[in-house]
Amino acid sequence: MGNIKIAPSLLAADFGNLQRDVEMINQSDAAWHHVDVMDGVFVPNISFGMPIVKVIAEHATKPLDVHLMIVNPDQYIQNFADLGATNLTVHYEACTHLHRTLQAIKATGMKAGVALNPHTNINLLEDTISDIDLVCIMSVNPGFGGQSFIPNTYDKIKALKALITKKGANTLIEIDGGVTSKNAKALIDAGADVLVAGSFVFKSDNPTATIKELNEIAG
Ligand code: DX5
Ligand code: ZN
Repeated sequence: MGNIKIAPSLLAADFGNLQRDVEMINQSDAAWHHVDVMDGVFVPNISFGMPIVKVIAEHATKPLDVHLMIVNPDQYIQNFADLGATNLTVHYEACTHLHRTLQAIKATGMKAGVALNPHTNINLLEDTISDIDLVCIMSVNPGFGGQSFIPNTYDKIKALKALITKKGANTLIEIDGGVTSKNAKALIDAGADVLVAGSFVFKSDNPTATIKELNEIAG
């Protein structure tokens, strides 16, 4: 507690007013800008690519937490480093040579994240956890904002926390999908360090106040 980070997901922003929404995050209690890149292959939806990430990076004053929902992420690691990403998260399910991908991300100076789909077991990270800066537990199936939270996530957070402790790793636990003020406290109590929230923030009447509310729940 005390160190919990709120990361609003710009996937739910108004793309016609992207600069305004990035600046809203700058001025808010949020810790990071969460940036969802989807390719229409790894997930059944296309979000946005490099030109939009560049605009976000130009206006953002907080760290960019980039979540790649794409196949063959290795191909673009340097591009995201050049754009100024702080964290680069790849999907476990998209990486045949995950260890190599993690080393390649870290070689650029970025923090290396691994996202797990709801069906992917925590124990698959047993041999890499010490090389991972952040694990993003997907609490919905990736591809779309506004979906309902999957309750099995709580057990996954606890299993991941136990693995991190067992290995003496220094890995942050991020939760992505269906996060609201209703489940935020329980997620933090289970061991979450970072809460991503898209619709709950941007579809609210006052996104700045909603971020503040999540931050206050986080303590
Ligand atoms: C889903 C994305 C999420 C999404 C979360 O594939 O990775 O970051 O923006 O949106 P909400 O908070 O609306 O579930
Ligand atoms: Zn995401």
